[in-house]
Amino acid sequence: MTAASNTHSVGVLGASGSSGAELIRLLSKHPRFSVSFATSRQYAGHSLRRVDPAAVDIELCHPDDADTSCVEAVFTCLPHGSSAPAVKRSRSGGARVIDLSGDFRLRDPETHRTVYGSPRDEQLAAEAVYGLSEFAEARVREAGLVANPGCYPTCTALAVVPAVKRGLLRGPLIINALSGVSGAGRTPSAKTHFCAAVDDVRPYNVGSSHRHVPEIEQSLRAWSPAGAPELPVIFNPHLVPLERGMLVTITASLPSLTPAELHEVYTDAYRGHDFVDVLPMGEHARIRAVARTNRAVIAIAPGHPRTRHAVITCAIDNLLKGAAGQALQNANTMFGFPIQEGLA
Ligand SMILES: NC(=O)c1ccc[n+]([C@@H]2O[C@H](COP(=O)([O-])OP(=O)(O)OC[C@H]3O[C@@H](n4cnc5c(N)ncnc54)[C@H](OP(=O)(O)O)[C@@H]3O)[C@@H](O)[C@H]2O)c1
Repeated sequence: MTAASNTHSVGVLGASGSSGAELIRLLSKHPRFSVSFATSRQYAGHSLRRVDPAAVDIELCHPDDADTSCVEAVFTCLPHGSSAPAVKRSRSGGARVIDLSGDFRLRDPETHRTVYGSPRDEQLAAEAVYGLSEFAEARVREAGLVANPGCYPTCTALAVVPAVKRGLLRGPLIINALSGVSGAGRTPSAKTHFCAAVDDVRPYNVGSSHRHVPEIEQSLRAWSPAGAPELPVIFNPHLVPLERGMLVTITASLPSLTPAELHEVYTDAYRGHDFVDVLPMGEHARIRAVARTNRAVIAIAPGHPRTRHAVITCAIDNLLKGAAGQALQNANTMFGFPIQEGLA
């Protein structure tokens, strides 16, 4: 901390990307963090405004010129594979790290290799705390390295953890998910290019082939009570023609409670959580309610007595609660600040 400014210095690697630029926007308004460096290879020497005219006017530097040993925290907003070595360097220099990539989310080394195929330091991976903010605050507070959860896994976990913790759901968990195009990062592809995405809704990696499925399954195992049956996941993502936001609709068997009783469980579980709203029965979670905020909204459908199913919907902004917002919420926790700081 610099005594003169009374702020903590942080660096952002990958600041020109969708989530990096969002994080810079949040940090620029945060009263207790100051950005010492923001990196990009392609835009080094230029303002972030060259990437996005609505962005903060901050000069980007090349990652080779970013001294990670001079800051107290580093946010890595890099693609998976590129993030792991940057995390290692930053930790070696003494900084605390919040990694937005998938490089340290999966605990099991073999699963990590199968899903991401990129090397990482397994000792660091063993230290990493999976930072689902609402359920990991105590561990995040002490963490040197936080693996910030993926956007779909965040949305899904917020939607089911209160029920999973009590062993209330029976599988399979059928997760139909919608994501805006910014979920794919800033560089367009043949599938995410404006002309391909506009006026269409496209299922992709349906079934259980999306790389977020093992992360979702890991969460379900972590929060299930001992001896609870496995919850197999059927995950069906869809690309929708929105810039940002995501919504999951989850259906699972609910043998022992009515939806109204489940709603009470959720209301109790999220009481006092600033960033999660459980809607009254009969209302629906909508992306419009959460876009450009760090909030999640969750709804439990009234259901039908014949089917004994839970239908739970959750909406978040993929770039905020699903990435930069949750990362800042975790940083607030790590540095002992109120979690709303810079996010209200
Ligand atoms: N987008 C989302 O909704 C979202 C949600 C949750 C998590 N995430 C995760 O957050 C990370 C960033 O995602 P994003 O969507 O913001 O990606 P993005 O828009 O593609 O941005 C990637 C950033 O990393 C830099 N970069 C790329 N390759 C690099 C390399 N080899 N070495 C150093 N810098 C490199 C890019 O700038 P230069 O090429 O100029 O260096 C850019 O600043 C990813 O791991 C992603 O999975 C994204």
